[in-house]
Amino acid sequence: MFENFKVPKELIPSDPRFGVGPSLIPVEAVEKLAKTGHELLGTSHRKEAVRKVVKEMQDGLRTYFKLPSDYEVIIGNGGATLFWDMIGLGMVEKNPYHFICGEFSDKWFRANKNIPWLKPDAKRVEFGQGLNPVAMAGHDFLACTLNETSTGVMLTDLPNVDNETILAIDATSGAGQIPIDFKKSDLYYFSPQKVFASEGGLYVAILSPKAIERALRIGKDNSRFIPESLKLSHAIDYSKQNQTYNTPAISTIFFLNEQVKLMNKLGEEKVVSEAKRKAELMYGWAKEKPYLNAFIQEQKFRSLTVATIDIEEKYKVDDLAAVLRSQGVVYDIDAYRKLGRNQYRIGMFHNVSYENLEKLTQIISLAIESEISL
Ligand SMILES: Cc1ncc(COP(=O)(O)O)c(C=O)c1O
Repeated sequence: MFENFKVPKELIPSDPRFGVGPSLIPVEAVEKLAKTGHELLGTSHRKEAVRKVVKEMQDGLRTYFKLPSDYEVIIGNGGATLFWDMIGLGMVEKNPYHFICGEFSDKWFRANKNIPWLKPDAKRVEFGQGLNPVAMAGHDFLACTLNETSTGVMLTDLPNVDNETILAIDATSGAGQIPIDFKKSDLYYFSPQKVFASEGGLYVAILSPKAIERALRIGKDNSRFIPESLKLSHAIDYSKQNQTYNTPAISTIFFLNEQVKLMNKLGEEKVVSEAKRKAELMYGWAKEKPYLNAFIQEQKFRSLTVATIDIEEKYKVDDLAAVLRSQGVVYDIDAYRKLGRNQYRIGMFHNVSYENLEKLTQIISLAIESEISL
């Protein structure tokens, strides 16, 4: 199916990258990195030149998110997946409670289930439904996901928790475009290869004083074995000195910093309103076309970063995605494999322009409507 479809010249997007991560890194940022020549790549991450970039990025995130001054921005190697293990070992006391609405929130739960002394519990909803976290008496750690990348649901409300509870948010694919009240959050973390347009392999975490205190206390508890490389207390110490515990990819930090600077030129409010405009475009398109359906039924949970759009079964999305990729026009719009749906999952990240998203909708519609008229 779709093998004879050719994208008309006027609909070719200026950039083919619509994936939900890794996401579009601006070519200008890559060129800017190349221009740093001898000064960054291949130099020590313990020296001033690299530490300056790290500090600029940390300060830039403080500005962007308007963080309270006693919160820390920490970084380390391994991305969100490794960070699940770090916080399971170094932040959770004994009985975390997870809010599960997709594959990533479930993976986080499974990471904690693997730790012998933890007794995790969870509330689950069917994939495709949204789920807001609520306060849970008797649990020392609440785990929720700002944006479920697998299904395209975002959360819309956070609870107030007491002094004995850490509210932790996996913000990987929402950070930057789905705003939260940081005063309610103790631990907010993300990998930067989504809205923040960098490479994978790094985690960024924003910790409240309560979370820092918990991590440092557990770090000193010798009865609990935590491998050195996974000690959150090391990550806190080194991040305060604008460093990572072990050697990072400098390019990842560089791209992240460039994106933070770019987004700070607009400020969070403008970035979010642009995200809303793109979301209206995508969900409006899904509503308008009889062969499309937004996967997320309840409007308020529809993501501002990842649009999941079901397509009538008889139009084979994989065939069309392959044709578009082979023409170099559109990359990586496939659904999350395990969902097994005839669906496109499209990144609406900051660097994916409104105009290109509009072209993408027109390309898909044209391809399907050409099949209808055959
Ligand atoms: C919500 C969410 N959490 C965690 C991860 C894992 O991130 P990483 O692959 O950087 O470890 C992802 C990856 O896409 C994600 O979308």
